Amino acid sequence: MSRQVVHLDVDQGVAIIAIDNPPVNALGHAVRDGLVEALTRAEADPAVKVIVLACRGRTFSAGADITEFGTPPRDPGLHEVIERFDECSKPTIAALFGTTLGGGLELAMGCHYRVATESARMGLPEVKLGLLPGAGGTQRLPRLIGPEKAVTAIVSGKMIGAKAALADGLIDAVVAEPVQGAVDFAHTIGTTSPVRVRDRDEKLAAAKADPAAFERAAADAVKRLRGIEAPAACVESVRNAFTMDFEAGLAAERAMFMRLVTGDQSRAQRHVFFAEREAQKIPGMASGLKPAAIGQAAVIGAGTMGGGIAMNFANAGVPVTLVETGEAALQRGLDRVRETYDISVRRGALPAGATEARMALVSGTTDWARLAEADMVIEAAFEEMDLKKEIFARLDGVAKSGAVLATNTSTLDIDAIAAATARPADVLGMHFFSPANVMKLLEIVRGRDTSHQAIATAIAVGKAMGKVPVVVGNCDGFVGNRMLARRTTECERLLLEGALPQQVDAVVLKFGFPMGPFAMGDLAGLDVGWRIRKHRGVTAPISDVLCEQGRFGQKTGRGYYLYESGSRTPTPDPEVEALIIETSARLGVTRRAIGDQEILERMTYPMINEAARILEEGIAIRPSDIDVVWVYGYGWPVWRGGPCFHADLVGLPEIVARLEHYAGASGDEGVRPAALLRQLAEQGKGFADIGKDAKAAAA
Ligand code: CAA
Repeated sequence: MSRQVVHLDVDQGVAIIAIDNPPVNALGHAVRDGLVEALTRAEADPAVKVIVLACRGRTFSAGADITEFGTPPRDPGLHEVIERFDECSKPTIAALFGTTLGGGLELAMGCHYRVATESARMGLPEVKLGLLPGAGGTQRLPRLIGPEKAVTAIVSGKMIGAKAALADGLIDAVVAEPVQGAVDFAHTIGTTSPVRVRDRDEKLAAAKADPAAFERAAADAVKRLRGIEAPAACVESVRNAFTMDFEAGLAAERAMFMRLVTGDQSRAQRHVFFAEREAQKIPGMASGLKPAAIGQAAVIGAGTMGGGIAMNFANAGVPVTLVETGEAALQRGLDRVRETYDISVRRGALPAGATEARMALVSGTTDWARLAEADMVIEAAFEEMDLKKEIFARLDGVAKSGAVLATNTSTLDIDAIAAATARPADVLGMHFFSPANVMKLLEIVRGRDTSHQAIATAIAVGKAMGKVPVVVGNCDGFVGNRMLARRTTECERLLLEGALPQQVDAVVLKFGFPMGPFAMGDLAGLDVGWRIRKHRGVTAPISDVLCEQGRFGQKTGRGYYLYESGSRTPTPDPEVEALIIETSARLGVTRRAIGDQEILERMTYPMINEAARILEEGIAIRPSDIDVVWVYGYGWPVWRGGPCFHADLVGLPEIVARLEHYAGASGDEGVRPAALLRQLAEQGKGFADIGKDAKAAAA
């Protein structure tokens, strides 16, 4: 017999309907069914005067069951359940705590009243899944808090706390304990018949008279959301709240939801939602394995990266010591951390006083003995193997037993670094992306001997820092940079063969990346790659020529583009065009016009091919991990789901054929389709099929 997911208890005239569907009380079919049945019984029971809607477990409902999207709808739909609460002849009160999200909040707004605990947070995050709130959220929220605030909340998908919710009118009271608070609240409403949210028009009046403020708020909310369908639909639907009657607004919302939920963008965003969570599951790792507690951390190297990593610890509430070789470098590092916090406070991203609070957790030292206090040490020194080996050998001598010893290397061999210690099981890579305090991706690189315990601890620390951790294997460039190297090679080739930086960047931007590869190169600094190439004895003719002329990118005001008087806006530079044409001629390459489709293919397919090799070698556990790496570390548009998801949409046979063509044209065997890609294409399968196999193995 299936477990009961909705309970009904009646006590002293109050019916408590409680959802009990761990972990997040999602509103799947059984819950919806149970809610209708419980409500029907409570409404029919003459002893019941008031109905409280509650949830058991760790949180009020986090919304619709996302796993049901894309499957045939089953009655009762969520909107029907909400309508039943809305139309109930007895007052209904939702008792909120934890995170009340999406359909969970829509259900709560279908109730006549809402109370919430002080720590409760609520929001309509559907936009993050490529959707709009499809169960009345775009019609009821504006009626409670006004269309301007509603459009901002719905387009951003951000949560608000109980205090703000009370001030805005989303809830009616802040209470100490949800169910008891709702019962107490019930006694205060007396016998007055409740006003349904759908009938509350007072907050719509201003926008009805003059929609200018709404239009400004809407334009501001969608400003940076290029290429995505859902935000525009959210705006349109909230606008309907004051231009249409409730029923018409609801019907339009439903139609838009159905259109979005069946589209590729929402499918991609739902894929990323689950991929991010799946990435935390490591096959073979004992499910009860507890991460070690990190009471004190240390970071070796107080440069930009080290400082950013230290900030991550402080942001997670973990005291951290920055370790440097000299006092001057240490002070510069500490000053930079303080300044970065100050900037965040000035921008309003952190509250006033945050700098002092966070800096209280950050200390500095030149005394290596202090490393003995740390439960986790992250080395962020220069990218030089000999230096890293020396650091780890020294660290081995001082670090406490069981401490996790991590390197922030972006390319070097973790096993070689671990071999400098007598405890390779405790050594791993924690590859942060620049700026380390901002970028969400954390590649956790496991070496040959890294223990599950160390990996579990690194994952937990990453999550506490607000990062998205992905466990990857040890190879040159790991997952992200190894794939990126393929794109970089194609960039150089495209320029030589006939394209210009601005043309390539425009194609990549149009695809949805926040920046094109050449503008990105200018931002990161072209000299970095130049130095690595020299070290490895390889060339990239055009990039080398630019560097030889001191064009290192934004920092020198000139790179692939021109940056006039400190501007960060790239301007195409005729000098660069001349240099490119000259280089092509010098190398005997006849330039040709290259179409945007070819550029797009070459900017994505060789990377997808490398992803297949990464999977063949077991460097990534599953294709969706690669998608997470690219979405959170490299700006792959989330609504395109990541390289593997995108490849499945394009179709692997097409990608294989195009790669064959490009491999033939360039003579580069690295572009030749990987065996796995070919095999999947021949079997009519996609990356998603290997993902399913990996999931089954992890289970
Ligand atoms: N449906 C199905 N499963 C869900 C879910 C949902 N709405 N929300 C979370 N889960 C699952 C997760 O996949 C995860 O499963 P596994 O343990 O198998 O990996 C599990 O619940 C726990 O989730 P988290 O690991 O994310 O737990 P957390 O404590 O870190 O975060 C949370 C909890 C804040 C609720 C977070 O899970 C979250 O943001 N969930 C999504 C909420 C959301 O987007 N709701 C809107 C749904 S769309 C909607 O409601 C449409 C509509 O208008 C009708």
